[in-house]
Amino acid sequence: MSIIFDEENKLFYIHTKSTTYVLGFMHEYLVHCYWGKSIKKLPCTDFAVPHKSRSQSPYNPEHPECQNDNLPMEYPTFGSSDLRSPAFHVIYADGTSVSDFCYVSHEITAGKPKLEGLPCIRASEDGGETLKICLADEKTGLTLSLLYSVLNDKDIITRSVEVENRGTNDVRIDRILSASVDIYGMDFDFVTLHGTSIRERSVQKNPLFFGSQTIDSKRGYSGHRLNPFACLASKNATETSGEVYAMNFVYSGNFLAGADVDPFKMTRFYMGINPFDFEWKLCPGEKFVSPEVVMVYSDEGYGKMSRTFHDAYRENLCRSKFALKPRPVLINNWETTAMDFDEEKIVDIAKKAAEIGVELMVLDDGWFGNRNSDNCSLGDWYADTNKLPSGLSGLAKKINALGLEFGLWFEPEMVSPDSDLYRMHPDWCIHVPGRIRSEGRNQLILDFANEEVCDYITDAVSKILCEANISYVKWDMNRNMSETGSSALGSDRQRETAHRYMLGLYRVLETLTTQFPDILFESCASGGGRFDAGMLYYMPQVWTSDNSDAGQRMKIQYGTSFAYPASSMGAHVSAVPNHQVFRTTPFKTRCDVAMNGQFGFELDLAKISDEELKLAKEGIEKYKSLRDTVHFGDMYRLMSPFDGNDSVIEYISKDKKQVVVFRGNTLAEPYGAYKFAKLCALEPDAVYEDCEKGISMTGEALMNVGIAFMSPKDFESEIYVFEKK
Ligand code: DGJ
Repeated sequence: MSIIFDEENKLFYIHTKSTTYVLGFMHEYLVHCYWGKSIKKLPCTDFAVPHKSRSQSPYNPEHPECQNDNLPMEYPTFGSSDLRSPAFHVIYADGTSVSDFCYVSHEITAGKPKLEGLPCIRASEDGGETLKICLADEKTGLTLSLLYSVLNDKDIITRSVEVENRGTNDVRIDRILSASVDIYGMDFDFVTLHGTSIRERSVQKNPLFFGSQTIDSKRGYSGHRLNPFACLASKNATETSGEVYAMNFVYSGNFLAGADVDPFKMTRFYMGINPFDFEWKLCPGEKFVSPEVVMVYSDEGYGKMSRTFHDAYRENLCRSKFALKPRPVLINNWETTAMDFDEEKIVDIAKKAAEIGVELMVLDDGWFGNRNSDNCSLGDWYADTNKLPSGLSGLAKKINALGLEFGLWFEPEMVSPDSDLYRMHPDWCIHVPGRIRSEGRNQLILDFANEEVCDYITDAVSKILCEANISYVKWDMNRNMSETGSSALGSDRQRETAHRYMLGLYRVLETLTTQFPDILFESCASGGGRFDAGMLYYMPQVWTSDNSDAGQRMKIQYGTSFAYPASSMGAHVSAVPNHQVFRTTPFKTRCDVAMNGQFGFELDLAKISDEELKLAKEGIEKYKSLRDTVHFGDMYRLMSPFDGNDSVIEYISKDKKQVVVFRGNTLAEPYGAYKFAKLCALEPDAVYEDCEKGISMTGEALMNVGIAFMSPKDFESEIYVFEKK
């Protein structure tokens, strides 16, 4: 059994493969007792008793030991003496916001329920277990159900919260976090992924301090700037050692994550929907379910944390039938033609691509309405027959005849003010009447909080997908949400808009991905602006960044790998000088870097040299031989581009027969010393051979001596492919 209730000591034990999470009681309140390496029994629960000297803290007169302000609380709410940041805050009909949520009941069930309307980790009936603890505020009839699930073969715990109004009056929820854990100690770094467009997900580590440290998004989507991932890592944590407590949000909208340290060195670590500008009216009989947080504990540093997320996301999050399948090598026309193309140009690109082994031709922005620049036509989802005289189906047939699959770009959540759709429905965009409708890239956001809009768009996209033989969709989204408001909602529900937008989007995605299970969907948001577990549920790969410069990509992909597997990262070879950073890197390096993700091209094959074309062809062949290991094996980060010039990543297949090592450097080191990349997880006595390079070494040597290299030239790279003999 994975979840056990110890009746005698009144403790809940939540066990994963190698970790344990324990919670217990202080009278009727739930307190957090332990999260860490597997233990069968907690030695004592004394540490959940507040220190007597902290007597200023308020307490329940009936139970003076309930000094909740000093206790490690399991799900802190406002009104029962805990004055630190609550996970839940609600305003009742009488205007007050004091609650007192006490334990009522619990149940442990097989499997893992689906969260209604939300993406979440999946488990079969016999693949996991769920603990539901019900708390209630007896004065108002509001109940909170805390949900914890574990999977038999994974090291993750998922958490979410369900609120039900069993009272007789409406209430307004203005803060509902999905997970909050009080951990003793503050000797941790708060590790998060920050960035911006074309510089996504750099790793930052900041020591905890007394007070609060938070990351968030208020942009209506998860965004480029901060990813909904955070971990607390012991100060000495490395890739292979140290304790790491991580949370990642299965949600693509506004989020908040933080670490608050109190004066007694207790750290409250939390994650959930951003309370900023959020409110939810809950009428009697209604329920609200919070999105899910995936929690991982690792006692072997960042590496094990990442591998745990990768396994769970590939196998239990992505619901696409492509999740565990090799994906096609693609070519995308965007950086070659932008919107200036016609059928002939696209077919020419596809012909050249077919010659070198590309498997999928993707037609990007510009195929619909009158879209010749980015100032019109979003929302008018019909093919431009000036550019495509035989329509999408005619083009798809020509591409298919070359032996390639055909893929198409959409930006379904947007509308251009210059579009038939906007002229017909000017109130179908996110806006506040009488206020400016600020444009981003000349476009407005469609109001997905409005069911009618969602149905219209689902229908429009579905018609196109039925019209031609389309095997792949790139689902783009290119602006922040501003002037957030919905004409479909009353004045009492305007602050629900951003979350309802996400629920609407998830409903559209659920419908389309169910209706078209044979289409591979890739998500995109000006590159990697919505790289989160919520989108991964529907679409198993994401366009990682609009920056394909090999040097910058080493960092972007390295940072992204903290939570997300290589199988989820779209990575293409693009032209030089790179159009984002104006840097010229060798063709081979661009290929090698892109092989760390879903490999593709985003350049004009007609304009590259014969030598480069040969490298592209060889690159595709090589990639096809190693993609299973890179995407579905175990990843070990050996050298970080955030620590120096080198990036080294090892991937080892689950059956341990193939080992792929990528090594790349940025600037050369004149007369530099040898460096050694020491591999991990090999069999010491087995012999590993890289035939192409003529290297044959034992596992022991590769792990202890390592692969020796120097970096005498700027932006060089190497890929080693070892087969176990
Ligand atoms: C932003 C994406 O990130 C690009 O790859 C491209 O699809 C453009 N949008 C098209 O408008």
